[in-house]
Amino acid sequence: MLVKKIKEIYIGSNNKGKLREIRDLLPKRIKITTPKFYNIKSPKETSKSFKGNSLIKAKYYSKISRKICLADDSGLEIDLLNNSPGIYSSRWAGKNNNFNIAIKKIYKKINKKKKNWINTKFKVKARFRCALTLYGPNFKTVTVEGKIEGRISKRKIGSNGFGYDPIFIPNGKRLTFGQMKPSVKHKIDHRIKAFKKIRKFF
Ligand code: IMP
Repeated sequence: MLVKKIKEIYIGSNNKGKLREIRDLLPKRIKITTPKFYNIKSPKETSKSFKGNSLIKAKYYSKISRKICLADDSGLEIDLLNNSPGIYSSRWAGKNNNFNIAIKKIYKKINKKKKNWINTKFKVKARFRCALTLYGPNFKTVTVEGKIEGRISKRKIGSNGFGYDPIFIPNGKRLTFGQMKPSVKHKIDHRIKAFKKIRKFF
C-alpha cells in the first residue's frame, strides 16, 4: 500500500532533551514546529499508559496547531519498584525538572527494598519505554511503542543525554546512556525502536 508522506510536522513536547532527540530522528527536509513556537503549555497526562498519554498529547497539540502532530510519552520502569517511576518519570523530577532529585528518590527506594545491593551482584532490572503517536487532519492515527531492557547503574555516572540517562545501563553494555555518545545511544534506544515503526510516513 502506498503511504502518504508527511512533509510538515508539529512535535508535541516541551521537553528540550526529547525535542532534540526527535528532531535528530526526522529527515532534514521535514518542516518542524514545536509548542514553543505557539507558546503552548503541556496538556494533563491522565492516562495510565505510555500509549494513552502519547495520544492525549498528539490530539491536544494537533487541535491547536491544526497540523499532523508527533507526540512521545516515555519513561523508565524498574522491576523492583513495581515498574515505577513509569508514566510518572517526568513528575518524579518535580516542577523544576530536577533529575538529581528523581534519581536520589530511585536510589532511596531501591535501597529500602534491597539493602546493600550496591555491594552485591544483584541486578536491578529496568527498561525505558517510548510510545509515539501520529495524529492529525486527514491522517489515520498511528500509535507505536519501543523499549530497551537494561539495569540501574550502582552509581550515577555520565553527563550526556537527559533525565535518567546517567543511571541506565542497557543490556550487553557496560556504560550508562549518560556515558555514551548520543550517536551510540540513539542507534539502540527505546525512541529509535518506536520510530522505526513509523519511519515509512516520513
Ligand atoms: P514525558 O514523556 O514527557 O512524560 O517524560 C518522560 C520522562 O521519562 C522524561 O522526562 C525523562 O525523565 C524520562 N525519559 C524518557 N526517555 C528518556 C531517555 O531517553 N533518557 C532519559 N530519560 C528519559
